[in-house]
Amino acid sequence: MAVDVLLGLQWGDEGKGKIVDVLSAGYDLIARFQGGPNAGHTLEFDGKKFVLNTIPSGIFFDNTLNLIGNGVVIDPITLKREIDKLKDAGHDLLAKKNLMIAKKAHLILPTHQLLDAASEKKMGEGKIGSTLKGIGPTYMDKTGRNGLRIGDITLPDFKERYQKLVDKHTSMLQALYGEVADFSEREAAFFEAIDLIKQFPLVDSEHFVNDYLKKGKKILAEGAQGTMLDIDFGSYPFVTSSNTTTAGACTGLGIAPSTIGDVIGIFKAYCTRVGGGPFPTELNDATGEELRKIGHEFGATTGRPRRTGWIDLPALKYAIMLNGVTQMVMTKADVLSGFDKIYACTHYTYLGEQIDYMPYDICSVDAVPVLKEIDGWNEDITGITELSEIPAKLQSYIDYLEQELSVPIKWLSVGPDRKQTLVLH
Ligand code: GTP
Repeated sequence: MAVDVLLGLQWGDEGKGKIVDVLSAGYDLIARFQGGPNAGHTLEFDGKKFVLNTIPSGIFFDNTLNLIGNGVVIDPITLKREIDKLKDAGHDLLAKKNLMIAKKAHLILPTHQLLDAASEKKMGEGKIGSTLKGIGPTYMDKTGRNGLRIGDITLPDFKERYQKLVDKHTSMLQALYGEVADFSEREAAFFEAIDLIKQFPLVDSEHFVNDYLKKGKKILAEGAQGTMLDIDFGSYPFVTSSNTTTAGACTGLGIAPSTIGDVIGIFKAYCTRVGGGPFPTELNDATGEELRKIGHEFGATTGRPRRTGWIDLPALKYAIMLNGVTQMVMTKADVLSGFDKIYACTHYTYLGEQIDYMPYDICSVDAVPVLKEIDGWNEDITGITELSEIPAKLQSYIDYLEQELSVPIKWLSVGPDRKQTLVLH
């Protein structure tokens, strides 16, 4: 038995939430392996819409367990809000007993958020575009060996440990920025949320996952953000604070590389990016605006407008290589319906030469996209259920992408609902 991995191949928001939800029924365990509540996985079914920030997207299936892995950073306040909202909607996770949390996952403190905000303010123009949820500072404390972990909340001296870290943060804020905003309300909410979290199974997830594998159970590792935001391989420094690639599933769950099975890479039929940083195929024009409008390209968590552009093949090939992608899912093909012509970036012009890879200094030297024109399709595809209904020009686009990327596109998503998904192979 192996662990399959599902992750985004672009700059996030590829529709991972929907696809994990579609695939969940076939798995015994869905495990989030990195990132924090900056993820906003959107799921739609039976006319209802849910946005999950921390909780894995398999939560709606009765026979699927869900794990928040050790590679994730957890904001207890956001997690409580998610749990409460799900309960209000009839999904009581405590009663269902289908959510576990890794003891080694790190905690986001209210003061991590203050540090995040203060740092972005100080950076001014050069800011990273942080979601200000304290994720970067929490990972900094993790690697700096100062962090607090979920397992610590059950220790008798948790409050002292908390206070020690908070004192460190407030003295840093005072020294660097000359002020510490009031966080007493968030602190009260933090401890209220901790009381709820204590009621869930807090597990040594590396043992749980490996034992589960030995029992022959099917496991899906769920990524957040996207490959091009990976801390090592994304467009640094405009990246997220964790490894969003397949390697991150190993460290974020405690599984060996040899346990990885299929790697399912998700990409949109075009491209989007949130926040700052290079985006070679960006459309700063009416077409970009149209893509944003039709595709509802506004952040699920932050509401921020997403930047939009054409599909970027050098970036996708890079993502496929880094992750060892074996199968792909193309989402939001429906958004391109009605565009007379669509375009795919095949190369970049970089320092006067044509290249087909992401250059190291992409943040300081422009990579200008070389675009191939492709015929668009006019048909509304949101209601199609049979392969024979796929418009010929969309099929040509799919064939072209499969040939260029050398990986099969196994699923095609034609709308946000669970049901709007076709199996192509
Ligand atoms: P992050 O981890 O935050 O990157 O999120 P994500 O990859 O789960 O994507 P997110 O849910 O933020 O964004 C995808 C949006 O597109 C959601 O609103 C989905 O409901 C929607 N969506 C997913 N697939 C499709 C599709 O095929 N067509 C359309 N029109 N919408 C889709």
